[in-house]
This record gives sequence, structure tokens and C-alpha cells, in this order.
Amino acid sequence: MLSRLLLLFATFCSATHLLPEGLRFSYDDPQSWRLSYPQCGGNYQSPISLSLHKAIPIGLPPLHFGHYDQPFDELLSVRNNGHTVEFRVPTTVLGERPFLTGGLLGDFYEARAVHFHWGSSQRKGSEHLLNGRRYDLEMHIVHRNTRYQSDEEARNQTDGLAVLAVLFKVVRTSYLFYQPGLNEIFGSLLHLGDFNSSYTPPAFLTLGSLLGNLDRGNFYAYMGSLTTPPCSPAVVWHVFAEVLPISHLELPKFWQLRDRRGRPLLNTFRPLQSVEARQVFHRRASEAYVWLK
Ligand SMILES: *[C@@H]1O[C@H](CO)[C@@H](O)[C@H](O)[C@H]1NC(C)=O
Ligand SMILES: *[C@@H]1O[C@H](CO)[C@@H](O)[C@H](O)[C@H]1NC(C)=O
Ligand SMILES: [Zn+2]
Repeated sequence: MLSRLLLLFATFCSATHLLPEGLRFSYDDPQSWRLSYPQCGGNYQSPISLSLHKAIPIGLPPLHFGHYDQPFDELLSVRNNGHTVEFRVPTTVLGERPFLTGGLLGDFYEARAVHFHWGSSQRKGSEHLLNGRRYDLEMHIVHRNTRYQSDEEARNQTDGLAVLAVLFKVVRTSYLFYQPGLNEIFGSLLHLGDFNSSYTPPAFLTLGSLLGNLDRGNFYAYMGSLTTPPCSPAVVWHVFAEVLPISHLELPKFWQLRDRRGRPLLNTFRPLQSVEARQVFHRRASEAYVWLK
């Protein structure tokens, strides 16, 4: 099935963009990204609006989260890179790299990095919309197809990257949700106000702990792009249908980050892109059961 999908995309040829260290772009005017990065004005762009009644229900296999529950072998270094907070995914204590397969993926994809998109006190800041609603925060876990040797090569391919997206909804509570990994990351934010600052949470985490108690079997999937320059149409997206809670005391920690100019780093989400003729799938476990029979 994936090969049929890929055929659809095979005619789409993408130009190369190396992502230089310290790539400059801002969220002041995302419409202008295409002037420096032509792919941002191309096809198969992300994010898009997802809705249950428009998605194609399909018996996709479940996602498989390889080594997601093994603790990392080193502490994370979370960094303010001027357009988001990000950390590189280390290997686990058993020397493995967490990977993803299943869903729409025909290959194995190694987890590389995690980052976030948010809004401001005035605007919600998820990138994808679910059933017409924008949520408060979106987390991306970026994976690279193990067939490709470098990020540059992967960005050149329609199946080069796989991004898992988790949306968050703010909840008024002073109670800290039992989401150990996420709470460590949110707790780092107060140390990351300045551009290029980094912080190491003093805890050995697992990648799986970032997913909380999410229903991992219920997701949307489609072929799209990076949501930041160079907007390479190289991403197989899996967006979870369940939205995780974040306390109203945690979310504002994102709003005090500053960019390389020292200005508040707010509304770090790209505007919605056109779905065009793309197929957007929705998986439910019950459908997979019918399909497996
Ligand atoms: C990306 O694709 C172009 C065009 O097909 C090719 O010339 C270039 O070498 C590729 N770059 C990498 C890093 O694979
Ligand atoms: C960011 O910080 C690192 C480590 O302190 C430093 O080596 C690097 O040059 C800094 N980068 C920028 C763009 O300021
Ligand atoms: Zn992202």
C-alpha cells in the first residue's frame, strides 16, 4: 500500500537544500519563506487541518515504538535554537536508537530529535488542526529513514522522514499531570529564555515517557513536509487523535523564550497549508482488527 502511495509522489521532484547551522528564518512572515526556500511554496506542504469526517478510515497496522521505553544512556541537552526548543535523541542504555515503524511507514525510522510549536497568551499554537480546532501546543518527534545516511539525503526523498505529532490542550489545574518525561522538559523551559542557551534536566528519561498515557493506536497519517524551512516534502506524518493535557502553569513557560534578536519567541506555528488532492488516513484499532482478519 505504501508503494502505491509512493508512486503517487514519485513524480514529484524535490530540490536539495542543505540546512546550514544557524539557519535563519522567523515567524514574522511565513508567507515569505518561499522566496529563500522555494519548496515552501511547493506541493505536499504541512501542517494541514485534520478531521474525522474527511479522513479515510483505514486498517493501517499499529505503529511500533522500538526501544521507546529503554532509558537513554545520557542526560538530555535541551536547547533554545532561536526558533524552538529542541533536543537530540541519544542512544539508550542498551546502545540502541529508538525507532518507529508500522502505520504508513514501509521502513524503519530512527528517532533523531524532539521540538515544540506554540502560540502566545493571545493565540493557540498547534500546527495541525483537529476537527476544526487549534490546540495550545504541538510536539514533534522527528525520525529519519534508516535507508538514508544523512539529513540532507533524507530531505531529498518523499519517505525520508517520519514525524510523530502530539497536540496539547491547556487545563486549569495546579496539579502536575503524571507525565514524567514531559514534566522534565517543561521544567527546563525557565532555563532556556536566551537564544542558544541549553539545559540538562537531571533525570534519565525514555522517549516513550514523552507520550504520557496517550492512546498510541489512534492516529491520522498523511504525506507532507517539514513545517519550517526548507519545507522539504519528505515527511510521513502521524498525528495522534488524542490530545494530552498541559497545566496552565506550564504552558506560559514557552512564551518567555526569546529569539536570536532577543525578541519574544511567540506563535511558532506555520499557517495551514492546502490539502490538495492528498489522502489523509485515520486509523482505529477496531478497523485494524477487521483488516487483519
Ligand atoms: C538530492 O537530489 C538531487 C536531485 O535529484 C541530487 O542532485 C542531489 O545529489 C541529492 N542530494 C543528496 C544529499 O542526496
Ligand atoms: C551557542 O553556544 C555554543 C556553546 O556555548 C557555542 O559554541 C556556539 O558558538 C553558540 N552559537 C551561537 C550561534 O551563538
Ligand atoms: Zn516541528
